[in-house]
Amino acid sequence: MDEKEIAAAAAVKMVQRGFVIGLGTGSTAAHFIKLLGERAKNERLLLRCVPTSVASELLAKQVGLPVARLEDIGRIDIAVDGADRIDSQLNLIKGYGGALLREKVVDYAAKQFIVIADASKLCDSLDAKVPVEVVPFAVAQVKRDLQRLKAKAMEVRAAHAGGHFMTDNGNLIIDMSFGTIKNPAELERKINEIPGVVESGIFTKNVDCVIIGTKKGAKVIKKKD
Ligand code: A5P
Repeated sequence: MDEKEIAAAAAVKMVQRGFVIGLGTGSTAAHFIKLLGERAKNERLLLRCVPTSVASELLAKQVGLPVARLEDIGRIDIAVDGADRIDSQLNLIKGYGGALLREKVVDYAAKQFIVIADASKLCDSLDAKVPVEVVPFAVAQVKRDLQRLKAKAMEVRAAHAGGHFMTDNGNLIIDMSFGTIKNPAELERKINEIPGVVESGIFTKNVDCVIIGTKKGAKVIKKKD
């Protein structure tokens, strides 16, 4: 098992029979989905799962997990998702896979939000690029408004195949650079105030704990009060 899989396996143990589960996106979340599929089959867990991307939905179906639409479920018991950066206060940067909007909807709505990652994602303060999902119509104006937030650099994300990367929601991503982010909650709020911004990849709410996979096993980091 690699470190991401070790973290995912520890999170799978937290799932209880009958749970509604938010499925994150990315390689660590993919480990979780596969391992959860195995456990659900072996133990007949009667789960319902809400995926945060088309990719996670396809994988969930492939491994036999029952997929539900957000509008058809009354609650999310637990969301398990990866992250791109995790600071010492458990603030996150997410969205390098482009799924930040659906991830934030599901992760913030869940009764418990568990982050799974390897140790490379840990940092003292958030200082990496911040993805911002933007409605295509508004992209030029949003760039001007983001400039006022003292961005050091910004770039509309390109697709591997050429052209612009498009999210599952038909929007664009602007990858922003702010240097060290002193107040992530304030920046999250300020970015979201810009008309045309759909969501930012700064996540400052609802994280219950972070599970870090290491060669020696899974380490749980809880939020400091
Ligand atoms: C997807 O948009 C992201 O938020 C992922 O959760 C994040 O990029 C973590 O990805 P890995 O698990 O592949 O490192």
